[in-house]
Amino acid sequence: MTMMPPKPEARPDRVSLWRYMKLFRQDILSAQPARLYRAWMAEFRTPFFRSFMVNQPSLVDEVLRARPLDFPKSDRVGEGLRPLLGNSVFLTNGETWLRQRRIIDPAFEGGRLRDTFPAMWAAGEAAVARMETGEVEVEAEMSHAAADVIFRTLFSIPIENEVAAETFHQFRAYQRTQPILNAAAFVPLPRWMPRGFSAETKRTARAIRGLIAQLTAERMALIEAGDAPDDLATKIMTTTDPETGARFSTEEMVDQVAIFFLAGHETSASALGWALYLLALHPDWQDKLATEAEAALAGGMEFGVMSKLKLARDVFREALRLYPPVPMMVRETVKPERFRDRDLPVGSQVVLSPWHLHRHERVWENPDGFDPGRWATENGKQCLREAWIPFSVGARVCTGAGFAMVEGPLLLAMLLRAFRFERVEGRDPVPVAYLTVRAKDGIWLKLTRR
Ligand code: HEM
Repeated sequence: MTMMPPKPEARPDRVSLWRYMKLFRQDILSAQPARLYRAWMAEFRTPFFRSFMVNQPSLVDEVLRARPLDFPKSDRVGEGLRPLLGNSVFLTNGETWLRQRRIIDPAFEGGRLRDTFPAMWAAGEAAVARMETGEVEVEAEMSHAAADVIFRTLFSIPIENEVAAETFHQFRAYQRTQPILNAAAFVPLPRWMPRGFSAETKRTARAIRGLIAQLTAERMALIEAGDAPDDLATKIMTTTDPETGARFSTEEMVDQVAIFFLAGHETSASALGWALYLLALHPDWQDKLATEAEAALAGGMEFGVMSKLKLARDVFREALRLYPPVPMMVRETVKPERFRDRDLPVGSQVVLSPWHLHRHERVWENPDGFDPGRWATENGKQCLREAWIPFSVGARVCTGAGFAMVEGPLLLAMLLRAFRFERVEGRDPVPVAYLTVRAKDGIWLKLTRR
């Protein structure tokens, strides 16, 4: 019998506020009741503000695609990130955010993906060479590989580079001091209550920003000397805002690099780790994917292979559906809104939950099952358009979505061509959500060479 992919146990429908907060500290998924997998909308009342989870495709569309400026990002969510990310595009709103996107977006346009492809390929080869057989914790391996992709595409340096390795190392330390998605959007703390950061959080944030500042300063010198490599950093640092003609200041560039590094490696690593586990649960799919990879990659490094990696893409999409790396997003109302006959006062938190939408029992066929074949069905096609939002949608969509949809299937294919992945009995992962959906004790798989 095939096993169902693991899903966290939901909490009972009614719990005291105290217990809710306690559950929340464990992780945000098991703090939610099971009815959210069937509800179109739910309300959480706290003494200081109200939260509304919106789980109906047309309402998600309204918030994210139709009227994004009426639902700015809630700054409660970013609090844990601020020491590290400063004024990065992930946290800003309004004019500042618009201006930052005008400078960043051109670096990620379709044509540029082709240019970053050789760096991704090189990172894939390095990962295959680095990984050993036997029982392996693949989440850590995937973090390493995804960090390598980011450094190679952004700064043309591999993860072995001294500054890159140190940044990666400090990032892990930062995450240990500061679980990044804090519960502030849901737990009933008033806004004025100070939430201090530990000395260790501040120290690691300073260290990371110092390293990034060094990389950007060196790059600026190369740009000025006319010797800069044609990578994402050069592109972003030399792009001017078409409306004002201004470029990013060095400080602002540090903020943006910090978010590219964070958003770009934690998320991809999470998705790759879960994809490998899902394939270990489904050896039939794994074999099909290995066969596809063998044929598609045989011709060597060429962007055209991506159009041949269809199964790899479908598996990666399915992993993003079942384990969306960013499980929830939070916005805020700036004027009174009315959804499904409910009034949302100004200052309400609007929670969008890819996690719940992707497993919605009234939307998806076989919502909790792993079936990469679903994307060829009518239900799958409709859901892909309306209820699959791992990268968010609309104006504030992930800038790296296209990038990640090349990186993920490519790395999967390269790994599957080289290794067979099997479950380790008694070590199935339990998903928990902090900033990204992770496995409580890592994802352990047994690797053998193909
Ligand atoms: C599988 C991989 C990835 C997933 C699932 C993912 C998911 C997301 C999601 C859901 C958001 C929206 C968050 C919100 O609105 O609250 C987001 C934003 C963002 N992502 Fe990604 N991401 C991935 C990879 C990347 C990569 C590779 C990069 C860059 C190299 C990147 C850069 C960004 C940035 C800069 C934003 C902020 C955009 C804005 O607020 O305007 N992401 N991502």
